[in-house]
Amino acid sequence: MRNQIFMKDEKDIVGKPMTDLLFDSELPFSLQKLSPYQWTPVFIVKRTWEFLKGKEVRSIMDLGSGLGKFCIVLSFLAEDQFPIYGCEDREELLQMATSLQMKWKRKSVCFQKTNFLTSFPYGHSHYYCFNPLYETMKGSHSIDDTKVKSAKLFLQNIQTLKNHLYLCPKGTKLITYHGFGGSVLPGYIVIRKENDDLGEWMVWERV
Ligand SMILES: C[S@@+](CC[C@H](N)C(=O)[O-])C[C@H]1O[C@@H](n2cnc3c(N)ncnc32)[C@H](O)[C@@H]1O
Repeated sequence: MRNQIFMKDEKDIVGKPMTDLLFDSELPFSLQKLSPYQWTPVFIVKRTWEFLKGKEVRSIMDLGSGLGKFCIVLSFLAEDQFPIYGCEDREELLQMATSLQMKWKRKSVCFQKTNFLTSFPYGHSHYYCFNPLYETMKGSHSIDDTKVKSAKLFLQNIQTLKNHLYLCPKGTKLITYHGFGGSVLPGYIVIRKENDDLGEWMVWERV
């Protein structure tokens, strides 16, 4: 991928390929060290773009957009061809995402502070998620300790997400990286699946 407008410290570095390292270099250390566990690798965004390219995409919404890596990298690849949204419930990540979006002048990207469980952003043709509810389970590499860890809550949240996704119209696509949390998604079939060292990437379609 060749990024077209990429400024670092006011120095033009146009033409440099976008890499995870380059993206990370814009982050404070505390967020950089979460990169391998929490932010989508550039390779996976490229795979997603290869799938979306040439298809009718009204808009795509990243459910749990973090510091905006998926949305921003996708907007460089798609050259702002369609609107890209991200919703995030952590204020500090939302602020980071918004400042990166402004810095790189990504006009097709829009971030909003929303909890997608309580206020699901209906109306998009495509959704993306990188296992956003997993953090409710006990484990290492958490973003912070602000969220309750409980297997029971995890299962409740997965059910809430499934209910929302079920209400999306036929033809809606959900693209998952490391899954959405469950193995069965009522109303959906799997239309693409790739599994490699980086993890499972899937496309589900509402039928
Ligand atoms: C694994 S990170 C993925 C971040 C981003 N999508 C990416 O791929 O770079 C999951 C994100 O989902 C967010 N998240 C978890 N539950 C959420 C909820 N109910 N509403 C909004 N965001 C949520 C977390 O704060 C975290 O930033």
